[in-house]
Amino acid sequence: MINVTPVSDVMGAEITEINLANPISLDLKVVLQKALLKYQVLVIRKQNLTPDLQVKFSSIWGKLETPSNIEYTTKESSKVMILSNEINPDGSAVGVVDGGDFWHSDSSHIEIPSMVTILQSIKNPEKGGDTEFCNMVEVYNSLPETLKIKIENLYGIHHVSKVKNKRVTISPDRPGAKDFYESQAKTRPSVLQPLVLKHPETGQKSLYCSPRFTIGIKGMTEDEADPILERLFAPITDRNRPYHYRHKYKNNDLVLWDNRCVCHRAVGGYGLPDIRRMHRTVIAGTGAYNLQQTSPTQ
Ligand code: OGA
Ligand code: MN
Repeated sequence: MINVTPVSDVMGAEITEINLANPISLDLKVVLQKALLKYQVLVIRKQNLTPDLQVKFSSIWGKLETPSNIEYTTKESSKVMILSNEINPDGSAVGVVDGGDFWHSDSSHIEIPSMVTILQSIKNPEKGGDTEFCNMVEVYNSLPETLKIKIENLYGIHHVSKVKNKRVTISPDRPGAKDFYESQAKTRPSVLQPLVLKHPETGQKSLYCSPRFTIGIKGMTEDEADPILERLFAPITDRNRPYHYRHKYKNNDLVLWDNRCVCHRAVGGYGLPDIRRMHRTVIAGTGAYNLQQTSPTQ
């Protein structure tokens, strides 16, 4: 029988006694879906899924996103993206290097953000390579009532480009990153997302913004928005990690999270010749949280 055990007091559960390479029954699908809504992060140990099987398992949550960067997908499936610090013999990168290095929720910079993200640890470094998660329902609950009221109907301005965001830096290890972000700054629009997001399935409110993607608040100057954003980000980056779970991978761990109520970041702390390789699949969101969009200049 499948076994679900919490991994911390605030979020996350480990699932054992399950082999995702076998056909997934409707009952099991419901158990997993309910567990994700309850625990926000699921850790499923000892899986060894080929890219095709990872895609098959992932699709129980919905429609898969197609990674924009085909260069870094697996040979077997274009839906599976590789995150890795490995370098090919010709000097090119095997996968995305240093992805997710600042706190964020996946794709909040596009109109319909990602719903669920699934990482399978193929090769785990000896040292480092953890992923940290933050329970954004708890973060929202921790805010003073006056601040909750103030942000209730406000929208964060989200942008993908790191050059538009003073709170982040560009990894020197990622090939072409500076040019990429310069061009994104010019060509990609900002997107508005509600600061308070009501989860479409659980109805729970969470704080929906992040140091990585949220660069302002609609209708406010930078001077007005900055103190609010700093206050909102404080519990996410709090050194005591009060609302957090830090996952230390073993090879063949499959970890998934609900981007609608979780922020996460790659901790890093590893380097060649030590290799980290993850296979990543993403379930697309089913609708926009906010239909308004700002102009490219904003
Ligand atoms: C991601 C991500 C973190 C990690 O895949 O979206 O942020 O630890 N990954 O690799
Ligand atoms: Mn991410």
